[in-house]
Amino acid sequence: MLRSVKGLKDILPQQVSQWQHIETVARTMASQYGFSEIRIPIFEFTELFSRSIGGTTDIVEKEMYTFPDRDGSSLTLRPEGTAGVVRAVLEHKLLDSPTTRKLFYLGPMFRHERPQAGRYRQFHQFGVEAIGTDDPLIDVEVIVLLWQFFLTLGLKDLILHINSIGTPEDRETYIQKLKDFLSPLISTLCGNCQRRYSTNPLRILDCKVPICQKSTKEAPHLIDDLSDTSRIHFQSVLDGLGALEVPYIINHRLVRGLDYYSRTTFEITSPHLGAQSTIGAGGRYDGLFQALQGPSTPAIGFAVGLERVTLLLSEKITCKQPPLFFVAGFGSNGKPQAFKLLYKLRHAGIRADTDYKGNTLKSLLRSADKLGAEYSIILGDDEVNSGNIILRNMQTKVQEIVKLEGITQRIQTGF
Ligand code: HAM
Repeated sequence: MLRSVKGLKDILPQQVSQWQHIETVARTMASQYGFSEIRIPIFEFTELFSRSIGGTTDIVEKEMYTFPDRDGSSLTLRPEGTAGVVRAVLEHKLLDSPTTRKLFYLGPMFRHERPQAGRYRQFHQFGVEAIGTDDPLIDVEVIVLLWQFFLTLGLKDLILHINSIGTPEDRETYIQKLKDFLSPLISTLCGNCQRRYSTNPLRILDCKVPICQKSTKEAPHLIDDLSDTSRIHFQSVLDGLGALEVPYIINHRLVRGLDYYSRTTFEITSPHLGAQSTIGAGGRYDGLFQALQGPSTPAIGFAVGLERVTLLLSEKITCKQPPLFFVAGFGSNGKPQAFKLLYKLRHAGIRADTDYKGNTLKSLLRSADKLGAEYSIILGDDEVNSGNIILRNMQTKVQEIVKLEGITQRIQTGF
């Protein structure tokens, strides 16, 4: 039997209500905070991601699904949404606006990671991007939206981690300090971090391998090397969170795995998720527009891993649907009449269904139960002859004879 590709998941009908609920909360809250939806393509030119996410990051080095187009150009399934949004904003000149551009998106992303609980090769993100200002209050707004999104969904015991990784200039001094600190410890680091020492030393700070965590325990803190401007910005973000009573912890290891970040970085984790505990993360990316040949434009955003959110939603969410009317037609006249009635009901906006597998009343009523119908409309040859139908309440099993003519209006008016 053919199976789905490793790391990819089907979302089955019984799970879809939960997904729709999460997506509705995301759309409603993003809109309440003034964000408009944008829909960007699933794949882009590879160069977009290598230039924005960074050539020495795990994503670009080993996790992208990259393939040649028929004309030989290199394409990549999007591993995240920020790069595509920035590309779209530049391409469609959406920066020509007096106000901050606030955009959100929902959709699948692709990374060739080692699959495990909460980590997949196709996963879904809800992301927002606020483009065009570096006022620290927009950092607060974006972080509070993320926090409130999770609270609205009823998630508990969340921890907001926050840090500032400064500007590239701030980091220059710090990276040298960090390398000096790490140089006598190189042999104690994992193989990956030994390589990162020369390619991307900051990432050593958030390596999850215990020996690396131990070796970097006493490492200098990046926030001690922030310029005055970056320090004041960071303090203002913390003050804003404090004013709105959003609890946070400063996490000096929070450097993020994408190279476009500058200044504010943040993640929200849950203790109920095991190793893949980050449910949402983001930060400021003030240099990304310029890196993609746009004008200098400060921006900040986040993305939420929706599969991880579903793992945390304990109760089954079922969306309230209008009542279902099952049309049970049988007999040589009843069946074709019932078929016509089914479409009449549907076209009048009534939720109606039938089942072609059963031909006897008994089997049809069994199907009605299976489908969760609230009512059955029974229409056999006798009913056709008398111009009636039998309306059966599937829960109480009470039946009533009703005129076929005008049945649609009766149902619409709550009979
Ligand atoms: P990210 O930290 O790479 O950031 O991903 C954001 C979230 O997506 C993670 O916290 C996690 O919940 C989820 N996620 C990532 N990889 C996987 C995976 N393989 N399986 C399941 N869930 C996953 C970004 O993507 C940035 N674009 C966020 C951002 C927006 N920064 C600024 N604006």
